[in-house]
Amino acid sequence: MHSVDPTTESMIRSVLAYAENRLRLDPVPLDQGSRDPAELDAALKGLPSAEPHTPDQVLGVYASVVAPAVISADSPRFLGFIPAAPTKASLLFDMLVSCASIQGISWLEAAGAIHAENAVLRLIADRAGMPETAGGCFVSGGSAGNLSALVVAREVAKRKAGSAAGSGSGRRWRVAVSEDAHSSIVNALRICEMDALVVRAEDHRLTGAGLRAAIGADGDPGSLAAIVATSGTTNAGIVDDLAGASAVAREHNLWFHVDGAYGGAGLFAPSVRHRYAGIEHADSFIMDPHKWLFAPFDCAALLYRDPPVARSVHKQDASYLDVIHDRPGEWNPTDYAYHLTRRARGLPLWFSLSVHGADAYTEAIETAIELARQTADEIRARDHLELIREPELGVVLFRRRGWDSGQYTAWADQLLQDQVAFIPPSAWEGETVARFAFLHPHTPMDLVRQILDRME
Ligand SMILES: Cc1ncc(COP(=O)(O)O)c(C=O)c1O
Repeated sequence: MHSVDPTTESMIRSVLAYAENRLRLDPVPLDQGSRDPAELDAALKGLPSAEPHTPDQVLGVYASVVAPAVISADSPRFLGFIPAAPTKASLLFDMLVSCASIQGISWLEAAGAIHAENAVLRLIADRAGMPETAGGCFVSGGSAGNLSALVVAREVAKRKAGSAAGSGSGRRWRVAVSEDAHSSIVNALRICEMDALVVRAEDHRLTGAGLRAAIGADGDPGSLAAIVATSGTTNAGIVDDLAGASAVAREHNLWFHVDGAYGGAGLFAPSVRHRYAGIEHADSFIMDPHKWLFAPFDCAALLYRDPPVARSVHKQDASYLDVIHDRPGEWNPTDYAYHLTRRARGLPLWFSLSVHGADAYTEAIETAIELARQTADEIRARDHLELIREPELGVVLFRRRGWDSGQYTAWADQLLQDQVAFIPPSAWEGETVARFAFLHPHTPMDLVRQILDRME
């Protein structure tokens, strides 16, 4: 299994040939996701089993059964949830990272990989206007980033309370969040045994005024540890009032976390950069390059304003780890989130950013924003459609007048069956609605028109 024998040679040829063909798909087709488990079970032919099979046999099952039963998130026709659009360069380099088993745990083991990853984190921190001292690591996704940051926020609150009143460890902490915060924030709070102070966001945008009013009316503001704002809500692409929220955080001496998992990449787009004013005050900030910075799954950037504080919370202590920690000044990504072993998942982004240059990223992000604006115009021009709100980033929410939820589902199912688009309905204030999530720079306006025409 570990030597280069004839079986390995044959696998290198066939797997690389398959990967090469997949890479060359332009555009990537959609395929179908959901399948009957019994049908899949039969088609998998009992793989794996105790006996070996030839690589071509197994690859054949993958190509004919597994791959077509996965919707391609990187297709320009994938317009639901939050899509993906990894560059060809990042996909290629992801293969290299795997083939070389590159991990990125400690400086002792992986200084080169970590230094390159940190150069990308620096670029992101600069776009956000965070200080020179800001830093962090790449984690698996926005959920992992939010959780790791909120754990730090809670520990910081405990410490502050401990030094003020003798003990801050026994109480239940809370975090001010908007109703539109991502579900992973709610999950992270549950895992950390914290509660949410849910702030009613005017027109779905968390503001400084809303936060001030909610905290002012709250019976126990001393139990607050943090404020979480979102720079690009998942459902509507709304950027919260980051300047206002950060001011309230400073007034109350609270940790300020910004969840930019989806919309953080808008920092690279001059046409919307003003919406992010105030992000420079974040104590922690996350952004998912596997969403809008065109990196492969899975990759989220997690940045702290004051990394030593995060390190004091997340650093794992064990006799076998002393060797990585007894080296002052070295940067160990493992110290900045709840993980230990980690893939150097920032490297594919480093490679692609270096090959294409950050300006190409700006252009690709602006393309999706422009698609959303043009789509809003198309919707306005059709009497049977109604725009729910002006798009701020790449998400467009709209309704088909007179449709019930079953009609939206039937429309979306048919579009997928016909391999036109994957565009599942969403909900807005309790009503089923339609939603475009633009991200792939090659999604054509003609496709958008075709999708809208099917609502007549
Ligand atoms: C705003 C926001 N935060 C967090 C997440 C969770 O990120 P992940 O799916 O990478 O864990 C998402 C995912 O869509 C998101 O849109």
